Amino acid sequence: MAEAAAPSDERGGRDLDPRVFDSPEFQRDPFPIYKALRDHHPVYHDRFHNRWILSRYWDVDGAFQDNESFDRAMYKPDGPYKFGTNHVFGPNILEYGNSDEHRRLRNIVAGQFVGQKLNDFLPMIDQISHEVIDRFIDDGEVEIVSQFSSQVPIRVISNMLGLPREDENTFVGWYQDLIAGLGFGGEYFARGLKARNDMWDYIDPMIEERSKNPGEDLLSRICVAELNGSRMTPEEIKGFVALLLAAGGDTTDKAIANMWYHLMYTRPDQYPDVRDNPNLWENVFTEMMRYDPVVHAQFRFTTREVQIHDKVIPERAGVILYLGAGNRDERAFNDPDTFDIHREDLHMRRENRSGRYKDGKNGHLGFGIGQHFCMGYAMARQESAIACRMLAERVKNIRPKFTEHDGVTAPNIDSGGFRAPSELWLEFDR
Ligand code: HEM
Repeated sequence: MAEAAAPSDERGGRDLDPRVFDSPEFQRDPFPIYKALRDHHPVYHDRFHNRWILSRYWDVDGAFQDNESFDRAMYKPDGPYKFGTNHVFGPNILEYGNSDEHRRLRNIVAGQFVGQKLNDFLPMIDQISHEVIDRFIDDGEVEIVSQFSSQVPIRVISNMLGLPREDENTFVGWYQDLIAGLGFGGEYFARGLKARNDMWDYIDPMIEERSKNPGEDLLSRICVAELNGSRMTPEEIKGFVALLLAAGGDTTDKAIANMWYHLMYTRPDQYPDVRDNPNLWENVFTEMMRYDPVVHAQFRFTTREVQIHDKVIPERAGVILYLGAGNRDERAFNDPDTFDIHREDLHMRRENRSGRYKDGKNGHLGFGIGQHFCMGYAMARQESAIACRMLAERVKNIRPKFTEHDGVTAPNIDSGGFRAPSELWLEFDR
């Protein structure tokens, strides 16, 4: 398919300057660039960063589905990269590409976050949300990011793992250092590694004990989960626990903040609908995951030459899949730049790995698709909806404290960084 002719302009068009991806402007508002990519450069060769970029819905979907050609592997048993050494989490499933090791690890743990096993943990999510809300409910105002969204998911994970409640604040501290280590490098990376090592020393004896005497907690379940007689090694368990903090904690934290941001600032007229029908929190979650999801980009390497439209991406090229751009593609969604929780052209209920839905609607791309489809999709949805519902039920007349807000932004979105507001002040009555 030929690319459409387009006028030059400094933010896109035919002469898109790849340095724009490093600009604060792009980090704050990437959507005009996404549109320029989709319309004029659907298969963009960014020579400045030595990578290719896909941005249309069906191209991103196609690359997610095609693991044979688009691999996520950092680690291959026969390659030069040493498993776990360069990663703040240590050895973890994210380093595996299209391999038997990936399938083995995924199959051992994926079942722990869905169905009845997830349902067992739901009352605890209620309880933790209430405890966190209790701390600020008498103040008449809350800074959502520091006081609410960053507090609930990590405490839920700590409880799911069956860590003693008196150690929860220590665990939250490790989490904060690990996340900073992941995003900022340098001194932060060193602090992140220390937090990870302290956490590993802390859970080492627990892994030993729970492997012998398992309870009902998640750590026990991971210790004894078996596939064809094979369990995870202690190193793999520790890497997975570290990964859970970021993959499961930080993302859900930011999802909750984005939901409140978009309801309070982007579509305040739709808040009364949600307040009056709390089931609609699931719609808020889904539309947030389309309109401005937490994760906007994922990275892949080509394992062979791939032709898309009229361009050929060579073998062993780095490729950015801009799922944040695909989600705003007019080819997949009507009026894609409007946030609308009642949208009829988006699959609103639970996501699945295939990305294909019986209602014939397109799903959002916010959890990826296919082989690496998010393992915590059901948990993230439930947890976000429950926490938001609890807060909405305990306050009246919740509203932004300030009329202006910088919006949802992130420090390093093109490297897969997460997007969320850095601060979000709301006021309420009781
Ligand atoms: C709103 C919250 C979340 C978002 C936006 C999110 C996003 C994503 C995305 C985009 C991927 C695909 C990565 C790829 O294709 O390379 C992914 C994978 C993953 N997610 Fe999530 N996630 C969320 C919550 C969670 C939770 C709660 C957990 C754990 C309980 C979790 C665990 C994982 C794991 C382990 C993977 C790797 C799967 C694999 O490689 O097979 N995530 N997530």
